Order: sequence, then structure tokens, then C-alpha cells
Amino acid sequence: MPFLKLIVGNWKMNGLTADSRDRAIKIASSIKENKTYPFHIILCPPTTMLSLVAEELKGSSIGLGGQNCHNQPSGAFTGEISAEMLKDVGCTHVIIGHSERRQQNRETSASVATKAKAAHLAGLVTIICVGELDGERTSGQADEVVTGQLKDSIPTTTTPENTVIAYEPVWAIGTGKTASNDDIRHIHALIRKEVGKLPILYGGSVKASNAGEILHLPNVDGVLVGGASLKAEEFMEIAEASGR
Ligand code: PGA
Repeated sequence: MPFLKLIVGNWKMNGLTADSRDRAIKIASSIKENKTYPFHIILCPPTTMLSLVAEELKGSSIGLGGQNCHNQPSGAFTGEISAEMLKDVGCTHVIIGHSERRQQNRETSASVATKAKAAHLAGLVTIICVGELDGERTSGQADEVVTGQLKDSIPTTTTPENTVIAYEPVWAIGTGKTASNDDIRHIHALIRKEVGKLPILYGGSVKASNAGEILHLPNVDGVLVGGASLKAEEFMEIAEASGR
């Protein structure tokens, strides 16, 4: 079977009951059971919407992911959520080390690795995010930053089946700026050298108008989509672009 492009929707902290249900239904109903697609979709709603979205996705091939998890399976960690809990509610995947968490919650690559290990032990596929800040890029440090993050964020439990890397240049997230094709080619080749067979996603202002080009660059195995994943039609256009 050829590799399917992974199309991951990261809803971030967006979604109340009505719009989450509506979006999940629209996406699930656009995937026909007896048709083959060149992509595999994973939806990552906020934690409070996981059960509801799981319900709407039942019987479809669409995967469900959390946006973060703790490194312990249970215990006195008020406000946290464990990988086991995500698995229990129907998740197949979890995003770990998103740049918003690295920046806003001071997550380090070392803590990303412990979370990823916990997720692997719970049977989840981890989507481990890496990417340089704008200042790091302009000072020519992007390669070094990304290589360092990879080295320290990937735990020993990693296999090509349980781990996906997402390259998301921080300056491209939610800004409308995407990395140039040459930059994506360059960094994805660098990541490929480091991680071998692990699938590599690109993220950062992916939309319907640029997805086709990005998805066909070498070493791009899919995309991690934030803003544009909140519009079901545009999100499906992004997925469909993987087949064109
Ligand atoms: P964006 O977000 O598509 O809105 O830039 C991507 C992400 O943060 O995963």
C-alpha cells in the first residue's frame, strides 16, 4: 500500500459543542466508505470535545488526537491529562511539543521526550513538533536549532510506526507566512537524515491555496494545519490536494 499523506487538523483552543460537532460531521461525511483516498486524516480538537468528536467519527477511517499529554499515567496533577486518558476516550494520536506549548508553557525538549515516551507506552502515535524562531532563522541557526530539538525530543521508545515529526517554523504559525519551498526542501532533507523513516509533516499557515505545492515537495509526508482546519471545506480541500 502506498504511503498516505497525513493531514492533521490542530483545532488548538477553539471549539464549543455545536461547531465542533458540525465540523466533525462535515469532515466525516466527506469520506466515503468504499473509496480509497491518498490521505489519512487526524483531527485534534480541544480535550473537552474529544468524546463528542470521537462519537461523530465512529466507523470512519479518521483518527483522533490530543493536543498535549502528561508524562505520568495518573496521579496528583491537577488540570493535566494523561496519554492513557486520551487513549481511553478514543485517541490514536497526540501532538507533543507544539511551539505554543514550548513557548507559553515553557516545555523543553527533555520534557517533550518524557511525554512522548508516556504516549508510546499508552499506545498512541506521537506527533512531535520542532521548529525555529524567527530570530534563530535570521541569524542562520535554524539547522542547528531543529537538529538539537530532534535529538533531545525523540525518546528511545520511538519507531516509524509510533512517531511522526512535524516541522513548524514558529514564525510561520498563524501568521499567513509560509516557509519557501526551498526552505522546506532544505529542512525536511536535514530532518530526514536525522530521523530516517519517520514521517515528516510541514506546518505553518498551510491553506487550500498552498497545500498542493507543499504536499508534493520531497520528504513532506503530510501537513499539520491550524487555522485552516477550523473550516471543514477548506480542510478537505487541503486533504484532496495530496492527490493532485
Ligand atoms: P497554522 O497553525 O496553520 O494556523 O499556522 C499550525 C499549527 O500551529 O499547528
